[in-house]
Amino acid sequence: MRDGKTFYILGGGSNVLIQDGLLDAAVLHTAKMDGFFAEDGGESVRLTLGPGVPVKTMLEYALQNNFGGLEFLTGIPGTLGGALWGNAGAAGVGFSELIESIDTLETDGPKTWRREDLLWEYRACPLNPKRTRMITSAVLVLKKRPADEILEKVRSFSELKKGQPLGRKTAGCVFKNPPGSSAGRLLDEAGCKGLSVGGATVSDRHANFIENTGRASARDIYTLSEMCRQRVLSQTGIHLEYEVRFFGTFEKA
Ligand code: EPU
Repeated sequence: MRDGKTFYILGGGSNVLIQDGLLDAAVLHTAKMDGFFAEDGGESVRLTLGPGVPVKTMLEYALQNNFGGLEFLTGIPGTLGGALWGNAGAAGVGFSELIESIDTLETDGPKTWRREDLLWEYRACPLNPKRTRMITSAVLVLKKRPADEILEKVRSFSELKKGQPLGRKTAGCVFKNPPGSSAGRLLDEAGCKGLSVGGATVSDRHANFIENTGRASARDIYTLSEMCRQRVLSQTGIHLEYEVRFFGTFEKA
């Protein structure tokens, strides 16, 4: 920011760890940037959406109107802005095929990115965080599909989440999967399940999730994450990369 303050954008907060105490930063919360405009063309719909639209709202709209493509959002929390920024997906399926354009605010002003400008990679947004200040809206195109086909996809995506600690307090997967491998499996094999620091515990259901069992501080969660990361590094030589976003500064306890 112009006055030198760090600037964060907060969507649904579902994949974010915010430091304890006072956060000396500017935070823009997108909750009210939730414009939802649907141009229903019969066989397809063009959705112009604000970054604060909950992904659950998008999925519900698609299911109610038999538009396919968003089934991969089943069980994913948060908002469109956050989901795009982290390139949320499941089983290799994500937003890339559905995006017509994205409007952003860049350091040098507003810009529209067309589908062909955007190269989506696993859990990485094609926008450059050094230049893109925020996503201001996105246009998605969905196609009409048979209701039973959509429901079948919803069922199969929901099946993928069965081993996850749904309903417990977590920030989603802590680490990205390293190429060709699974962070959850590596963490499990490194003996991380059940490790805890303060009120933070590695989930006994899936080792890539840290549960807040009550009064975990952000520092507890960070310290435990680093402990796990170190275990995997020393046992396999693999350096896990964080998927969770950090707001503020973190030091191990
Ligand atoms: N596994 C273990 N122990 C564990 C956890 C997993 O051995 O504690 C094994 C599983 O048995 C399986 C393999 O590791 O053979 C992969 O696990 P899983 O099928 O749960 O998938 P994942 O790679 O851990 C990914 C995404 C999830 C997404 C699911 C379903 C990442 C980091 N994780 O999980 O996304 O929901 O696939 O599509 O990409 C997220 O990004 O926050 C997230 C939850």
